[in-house]
Amino acid sequence: NRDFLIAPSILSADFARLGEEVDNVLASGADVVHFDVMDNHYVPNLTIGPMVCEALRKHGVTAPIDAHLMVKPVDRLIGDFIDAGASYITFHPEASEHIDRSLQLIRDGGCKAGLVFNPATPLSYLDYVMDKVDMILLMSVNPGFGGQAFIPGTLDKLREARRRIDASGLDIRLEIDGGVKVDNVAEIARAGADTFVAGSAVFKAGSSTDPNRYDSVMRAF
Ligand code: DX5
Ligand code: ZN
Repeated sequence: NRDFLIAPSILSADFARLGEEVDNVLASGADVVHFDVMDNHYVPNLTIGPMVCEALRKHGVTAPIDAHLMVKPVDRLIGDFIDAGASYITFHPEASEHIDRSLQLIRDGGCKAGLVFNPATPLSYLDYVMDKVDMILLMSVNPGFGGQAFIPGTLDKLREARRRIDASGLDIRLEIDGGVKVDNVAEIARAGADTFVAGSAVFKAGSSTDPNRYDSVMRAF
């Protein structure tokens, strides 16, 4: 399953007009809504939670919502995001006391489960849970903020993650998050990613209130 998915991160959207922003980016061809949850504890920033996810569902968003939990502890919020209509729920292994349990909680709730790897976090966290993940998310920046530069060493890590997935024979998506732009996405795809988060590259494109303003950047991706 190597179809490519583009997942704009709403972290860089206009939060005062979030429903409209999500509608527009999906109408322009986005596949997945990447939803960054930050708690001012695990990461030094504070964003949005399950109420906003639920509000997007009530607004009529039917596309997959990819909840990237940068929170500690994680387990209680997993339940909240299941109830709020998330499709994917990913978390950082360092933020969970019981990684296997957290993955199981997500799948028991009917969602797809993923582990997120910071730039310096080893992929060996996968060793005993490979059969319990639907998604591996590699951070190509340190988590907490949009608009940072892609860390080049992530390309080798992507190749290693791709080898692990192919060797497992399992259906696992390989997502990349941080500093993804139109001009580096091809190289990132060649390194093995199949799901691309892009925040500032998408939402800072286009102008003002043109409902079609994301058409050209989404075409470029
Ligand atoms: C960072 C977030 C990213 C961020 C990416 O902690 O996980 O999803 O929004 O933003 P860009 O694409 O601007 O690097
Ligand atoms: Zn993210």
